[in-house]
Amino acid sequence: MRTGRADSDVEAVLTSADASSLNEPAKVPDALIFRAISCSDESQTDTGIRQPCFHEPVSTHYGSIAFTDAVRDVQHRYGSDGFYDRKRVQGTAVPGTDALTDDEKDYLAERDSFYLASVGETGWPYVQFRGGPAGFLRAVDDNTIGWADFRGNLQYISTGNLTGNDRVALIAVDYVHRRRLKIFGHARVITVEDDPALLEAFADPDYDAVVERAVLITVEAYDWNCPQHITTRFSAADLEPRLAPLHEELAALRRENVQLAEQLARLVPPENGQSS
Ligand SMILES: Cc1cc2nc3c(=O)[nH]c(=O)nc-3n(C[C@H](O)[C@H](O)[C@H](O)COP(=O)(O)O)c2cc1C
Repeated sequence: MRTGRADSDVEAVLTSADASSLNEPAKVPDALIFRAISCSDESQTDTGIRQPCFHEPVSTHYGSIAFTDAVRDVQHRYGSDGFYDRKRVQGTAVPGTDALTDDEKDYLAERDSFYLASVGETGWPYVQFRGGPAGFLRAVDDNTIGWADFRGNLQYISTGNLTGNDRVALIAVDYVHRRRLKIFGHARVITVEDDPALLEAFADPDYDAVVERAVLITVEAYDWNCPQHITTRFSAADLEPRLAPLHEELAALRRENVQLAEQLARLVPPENGQSS
């Protein structure tokens, strides 16, 4: 197992940064950081899909939330603080939040699941899976996303957590094309008494679930991650159209095989004493 980044140049700089961490750390040049965090050409060719990446300047506020003093101390130790601090300062300088573009909206519309992190009163983070029909998590406008929250095991941990702290983090992963989108936001729970029309708009009548509430998130910031270390996975629905022609071909070959066996049996009579 290697202990650095995949890129050997980056690895060399990080190793030297590590070695000199007690003194002034070596700075990792921006070009090497770009290379380490960029989507590889190979994965883009594999999927044929344009992959919005970390270095595209679409989101500006992620760093101002995520790069806390403790995080910046570690970045300093590894020499990446210069690069990331510029992003953080840029985000802080621009008031407001990150508006979703069509890239994020289209991406979310294709997802059938995501992971939601909330924070309980004890300070513990809590992560839960949320799943549904593709597009159940959707952009309502440039700054808001939402979904229909289904009845589950009646623990109501996420919902309860949101009453004390509305800060959430989401990650939505596309395992087929190896993409991931992370979102920070403020959540609010909408009950059927609050807004029956909203719950009805979010509910999918063809999906077998009880909608207990809707959750709306005001997006503060988002960030795209690269495909590194995501194993390609296909759902049954992803595979079905690809497997259908193979199933048909297999069925045709089996039918042909039966016919050929019958023809062969007619041409070659069974040996004396043997039943066919
Ligand atoms: C009958 C039933 C049993 C479930 N049991 C569990 C369970 O034991 N653990 C779990 O994490 N989720 C379980 N789930 C899924 C959760 O209820 C579901 O993911 C829900 O959204 C959890 O929300 P929460 O973690 O915010 O309370 C179950 C769902 C159903 C319908």
